[in-house]
Amino acid sequence: MDNIHFFENRDELSDFFARDLYEKIKEKPDKEVFSIALSGGSTPKHIFQYLSSHYHKNINWEKVYFFWGDERCVPPEDKESNFRMTKENLLKNIPIPDNNIFRIKGENQPESEAKEYEKTIRKNIHALNGIPVFDYIMLGLGDDGHTVSIFPDQLDLFDSGKLTVVAINPYSGQKRISITGQLINNARNVAFLITGKAKAEMVKTILEKKNGWQNLPASKVQPTFGELLFLLDKEAAASLNPGY
Ligand code: 6PG
Repeated sequence: MDNIHFFENRDELSDFFARDLYEKIKEKPDKEVFSIALSGGSTPKHIFQYLSSHYHKNINWEKVYFFWGDERCVPPEDKESNFRMTKENLLKNIPIPDNNIFRIKGENQPESEAKEYEKTIRKNIHALNGIPVFDYIMLGLGDDGHTVSIFPDQLDLFDSGKLTVVAINPYSGQKRISITGQLINNARNVAFLITGKAKAEMVKTILEKKNGWQNLPASKVQPTFGELLFLLDKEAAASLNPGY
C-alpha cells in the first residue's frame, strides 16, 4: 500500500515534506552524505520557499548533496531551467557548499551531458547491486502522467538499461536529460509532491488504477525496497473516491 497523505493546502504539504526531509537528514550520521534528487517544474517553487524560510537553520546542509531528477537542455540562467528555479527558491537562501550541488549542465550537448551526469552520480553516491542509492528522490507529476522527463510516448526510457537518458518533451520538442526508473526504484525514499486541480484526474487514474494506468511513467515508480510517499493537496486529491 502506498503511503498517501492529504493536505488542506500547499503550506501544510510543504511543512510535512520539510519536516520529513529534516528528520531523514538528521537520522543519517553527520559524517555521511544525504543525497537528494530534486524535481523541477513549478510545483517545487512554493515548497522550496517554505523549506528555505522554515528549515534553513535546522538542517545541516553540509551533509546534503543536491542532484536533479531532470533538467531542460537550456543554459542555467534560462527561465526554463530547473536549476535556475531551484537556485532562486532554495539554493540562494541556504548555506549549501557549492561542492554539494551537482547541476545537470543543460547547456552542454545532451547525449554527452547525460553520460557525464551518470558518471557524477556513480562517483558521488554509493551503489547497491551496481545501482546508486539516492536517500531521497522528489518527484512531480505531469497531467499526462509523466514524471521526471519521461513522457508517456517514451515509456521505454523508464526501463532503459541506463541511469540517465535524453528525452524529448513531446509538446514543445525541447530536449531534456532525465534519470530513469533504475535510479528512482532503487532509492530509499521516493515522494510525489502534487498540488492543484489540474492533476486531479491523473492522480485518480494512477492511485485508483483506472484504465491505461499501467502505461504511464508515474505508475512505474515502484521502489524495490524504499518508501513511496504521495503528498497531495486537497485540489489534487479532489477526484479520488471518498473511500480512498
Ligand atoms: C520538469 C519536471 C516534471 C514536473 C512535472 C510537473 O522538469 O518539468 O521535473 O516532471 O515535475 O512536469 O510539473 P509542474 O510542477 O510544473 O506541474
